[in-house]
Amino acid sequence: MSKVVVFDHPLIQHKLSIMRDKNTGTKEFRELLSEIAMLMVFEVTRDLETKEVEVETPITTCKCRMLSGKKLGIVPILRAGLGMVDGVINLVPAARVGHIGLYRDPKSLEPVEYYCKLPEDSVNRELLILDPMLATGGSASAAINFIKQRGCHHMRLVNLIAAPEGIARIQKDHPDVDIYVAALDDHLNDHGYIVPGLGDAGDRLFGTK
Ligand code: PRP
Ligand code: URA
Repeated sequence: MSKVVVFDHPLIQHKLSIMRDKNTGTKEFRELLSEIAMLMVFEVTRDLETKEVEVETPITTCKCRMLSGKKLGIVPILRAGLGMVDGVINLVPAARVGHIGLYRDPKSLEPVEYYCKLPEDSVNRELLILDPMLATGGSASAAINFIKQRGCHHMRLVNLIAAPEGIARIQKDHPDVDIYVAALDDHLNDHGYIVPGLGDAGDRLFGTK
């Protein structure tokens, strides 16, 4: 069963509350999403493997630790996942970036794929799938399916806000994928929007509404 980790760090909660406010404009929304993504990835990567190395400092040599496990890849789900890329790259500059283009059909709420390009060596990487919103879970579940079809089986899902319905969907479809969120909200409304949520993440990020 997928593990669900909710980050209740005060800085993350403060920034998220500003993002939720309908009066917060695109510039601030974009900056805050990037900052929260950076804070989240710090915790998402807490269990990465390290190995002992010897380093020569200006004073002496010492045994230190450096990353040793799988290299990281990040896969934003277009469009809104793009808003999390810079924050993650700030902390993990060597990560390769793939993209999956999905949109949710407004009537059926079913995801439609329009683009997928992953780094060549993704199969050997630990992938962080980025999307601010996990609502019905249809988009994230489809994205994970596409990634698995390409042979990748090590991944974690990183969302800003999740609805219980989305969490349940991922746990059912992909029990091997752990989920990291900044907030677990109450429910979905009749239009598939997260309540209380923050509205349409893509529109708020890109100023398209
Ligand atoms: C939003 C969001 C997720 C999806 C979540 O994208 O960024 O990808 O909806 O909904 P779900 O869990 O019910 O699938 P949207 O389809 O609005 O596309 P956009 O990012 O291009 O705006
Ligand atoms: N997609 C969004 O951008 N917001 C929601 O609340 C649900 C899906």
